[in-house]
Order: sequence, then C-alpha cells, then structure tokens
Amino acid sequence: MFQYSKAMLLNLVLVSFVLLSSIRDGSAGITSSFVRPQWPGVDIPVDHEVFAVPKGYNAPQQVHITQGDYDGKAVIVSWVTPDEPGTRHVQYGTSKDKFKTSAEGTVANYTFYNYKSGYIHHCLIEGLEYKTKYYYRIGSGDSARDFWFETPPKVGPDTPYKFGIIGDLGQTFNSLSTLEHYLESGGEAVLYVGDLSYSDEHDYKDMGLRWDTWGRFAERSAAYQPWMWNVGNHEVEFLPEVGEVEPFKNYLYRYTTPYSASKSTSPLWYAVRRASAHIIVLSSYSPFVKYTPQYIWLKEELARVDRKKTPWLIVLVHKPLYSSNVAHYMEGEAMRSVFETWFVQYKVDVIFAGHVHAYERSYRYSNIDYNITGGRRYPIPDKSAPIYITIGDGGNLEGLASSYLDPQPEYSAFREASYGHATLEIKNRTHAIYHWYRNDDGKKVPADSLVLHNQYWGSNGRKQNEVIDEVVNVK
Ligand SMILES: *[C@@H]1O[C@H](CO)[C@@H](O)[C@H](O)[C@H]1NC(C)=O
Ligand SMILES: *[C@@H]1O[C@H](CO)[C@@H](O)[C@H](O)[C@H]1NC(C)=O
Ligand SMILES: *[C@@H]1O[C@H](CO)[C@@H](O)[C@H](O)[C@H]1NC(C)=O
Ligand SMILES: [Fe+2]
Repeated sequence: MFQYSKAMLLNLVLVSFVLLSSIRDGSAGITSSFVRPQWPGVDIPVDHEVFAVPKGYNAPQQVHITQGDYDGKAVIVSWVTPDEPGTRHVQYGTSKDKFKTSAEGTVANYTFYNYKSGYIHHCLIEGLEYKTKYYYRIGSGDSARDFWFETPPKVGPDTPYKFGIIGDLGQTFNSLSTLEHYLESGGEAVLYVGDLSYSDEHDYKDMGLRWDTWGRFAERSAAYQPWMWNVGNHEVEFLPEVGEVEPFKNYLYRYTTPYSASKSTSPLWYAVRRASAHIIVLSSYSPFVKYTPQYIWLKEELARVDRKKTPWLIVLVHKPLYSSNVAHYMEGEAMRSVFETWFVQYKVDVIFAGHVHAYERSYRYSNIDYNITGGRRYPIPDKSAPIYITIGDGGNLEGLASSYLDPQPEYSAFREASYGHATLEIKNRTHAIYHWYRNDDGKKVPADSLVLHNQYWGSNGRKQNEVIDEVVNVK
C-alpha cells in the first residue's frame, strides 16, 4: 500500500548511526536530532477502507472493550448500531460459536450540534474466569459479529504481563502505522494516554462523524483487548459558539471506564489492577487541587495500593509533568506541584503521558522541595521518583513536536520526535522490560529500551531499592 523510497532507507541507516554514536556513559541525556520522514498530517478520507462500515442491516460497529472491574474478572463491551437500537445483549462463552451465556447492557443516543449519533451500547460482562479466552457475539441475524478477548491472570506479585502504551493516536496514515505496529507487539492490553479521534479539528458538523470513523479504526485492536481510556484536551470539546457546553460529551457517551469499582465518582479518573500492576488513571482536564473530588480520590487510592499484590504502580495522565519539548511547555506544572510529592512518597514506577507529539523519557528525578518561600529550585536525581515517559507520538493530524529546549535538561534521558508506541513487559516483581518502538519507514524499530527495576521490591526480591534502571539497547 505504501512506497518506501531509497531516501527513507538511507535515513534509517543514518538514524542508527546517529543514535549509536551518541551513547555516552549512560547518564548523559540523548537528543536524537533526526526527524523521521512522515506521511502528511491529514486524516484518512472518510470513505477509505480502514473506516469500512461492516456489512448488513444495523450491523454493530466501533466495537471496543475495557476492563469492567477492579481486578480483571469483568469486561465492558461497547459498540454502536447505526439504524436502530437492536439487541442489547452480548452472547459469550469459552468455545467458538457456542455462546452459553448472555448479558444485557444499556443503549443511548445523543446529538452534537447537528449530528445525531447511532445507538451506543455498553454491556458489562462479569464473573469471568482469569486467564481464559472468551468468544463473544453482538448484533443479530446475518448482521451479528463475533470477536474474542482473553482475561488477564489473577492479580499477583510475580504475574508476567505485557502492556502496550499508545497516545494521541488520531486517524492519519501515521496513526494506522502505529496501530499496525502495535498489533504485532504481543501487547495484551493498551494503556491509552488521551486524545483519541481529534474530531475537534474538523468542521462542527463532521465532529460526530469523525468519532465514528475513529471507533471503526480502533476496533482492529480495541475489540480484542481492553484499552484503558484516559482523556486529553481533544476530548473536552467545549463549544459554546454552537451550544455544545457539556465537556467530554462525545467521549463520555462512547467510552466508558470501571470507575466505581475503584470508588471513583467520575469516569474521568479511576484505577484498575491487572496481573501484577496497579494502574491509576488521572484527568488533566478535571479539577485536581486540594479538596477536589479527584484529589481526595487519588489520596485514598494511593493508600489502597498493595505492592505485595501489585508490585508495579503505573500512572497515566495526558499532560506530562516533565517534558523538555517546546510544545506545551510547563502545562503539566500545576499537577506536578500538587501530586509529585505523593508520586515520590508512594514510589510510583512509571508515569506515562501524551499531549506532546514526540517521545521523551526521564531519569528518576524529583523537584519536591521547592516552594514559594524557599527550598531547592531544580529537579534532582531521586531514587524514589518515577520515570516520566511522554508518548504522545501516535500519529495524529497535528504532526510532530520536533523542537526541544536546549540544552537538554539533566532529568531528560532520551528524546526524539518520531511516531511510535511502547510496550511494558512485566517479568516478575522486580523486573520489567520497556521498549519504545519508532514507526520507521514501514518497520517497527526498537529505539529506546530499558530494564525497569521495581521501585518497591529490590532486585534481590527484598523490599528496598538501590539499583539503577539499565539502558539495555539503544539502536
Ligand atoms: C434517539 O433515537 C430516537 C429514535 O430511536 C429518537 O426519537 C430520539 O430523538 C433520539 N435521541 C436523541 C437525543 O437524538
Ligand atoms: C518551604 O521550603 C522551606 C525551605 O526548604 C522549608 O523550610 C519550608 O518548610 C517549606 N514550606 C512548606 C509549606 O513546605
Ligand atoms: C525476574 O526477572 C528477571 C528478568 O527476566 C530475572 O533476571 C530474575 O531472575 C527474575 N527474578 C525472579 C525472582 O524470578
Ligand atoms: Fe493533547
């Protein structure tokens, strides 16, 4: 489908050389000045096959699933029927074509400016067995569609699990490249860091439509494995000029989260436990200062984290707390000043963010002593601090954020403006292998790789940590 020029191949050779030659002693930060060749930053035309509408009257489309409870024994199946509500049931079972059980969900429709949505279904399937493949069927008659998913293993400290991390995906050919590469990664669930469809970059009348195309686009992954959703600024869609004043309206009708299972009062912030990880999802675009619901919830959720059950503590948020990119510089500062002390105190392993359309990884640094009357003013190395990873490089129509602050700050370990995705492969309570993959001229190239040492369990399996994360492979 795509043509790769000789120039692109030469670029590949060149980038390998540039990166290899810039590895110094492992502590100096690396800036890859190379800007990847890219397809244009425009959305794929609505009538393109990647957005194909499934055949048949009222056939379910935009199918996606997410975790449905705190520990991974439930799934929420969501889909849209275009013509009429149709059946609200999901039929499911553990063998193909034999759907022994069924669950009933809810259906809703809404308008946005002059757009009328299809019928949006959400159906919670509960009481599943761990580590089991389930087949499910939605729709009816000739228009029924079949999918499958696998439940995670039981929550436990040494349970291996491979997460994918994607952000700011959008719906361009770069987005498609990212998603196709992710599909080859072996990732079992996606940690999504916000900004989904970028529909708000379109005409008011097309915004709803571009949520539909994005739903059909993401289905190739999201119907088969849970995506843990998070909001970005493109989900806000506050448009008083056309009378749309309910923030997150399109998003909230379509994407759902198991927020009440973690005692949250809003679908915009929540937590799940999956295998050996405790994942906390925060909203950059909801109040979070002291006394707000999100602040109170996070304080309580952090206290519920049990590192003996889930050694890996991961936070997802849209706006990065540490980023040395020119784009959106310091937008995350307000949240950093409120939550960073907790992140250090609770020894969060890694914080993934999007928003900046590029890639950056920090060393373990903190800046928690500074306040308006005194204290240290600059971030300092801190073994208890999380690693901050910005991965807003999914490929949306806004293009890459390729200007970085110079000189590279000490906290910044690696930065590059290329499209891609990452995986976090947890091995056991002490080790996880992290890879960032660049979409490289049609190939998936590991461009930043690290062995993460757990922040709670030392490498020797005892509760302590004096080991530094190792860069295993940069090429
Ligand atoms: C939902 O669909 C029904 C038809 O089934 C229609 O009468 C109603 O106006 C729609 N509601 C909204 C908010 O669009
Ligand atoms: C502000 O920083 C100074 C100097 O480190 C410290 O003595 C003081 O306790 C801090 N105040 C607060 C409220 O954290
Ligand atoms: C944990 O995984 C790492 C990497 O695979 C391995 O080297 C280490 O021996 C494992 N530790 C235990 C206790 O199994
Ligand atoms: Fe954003």
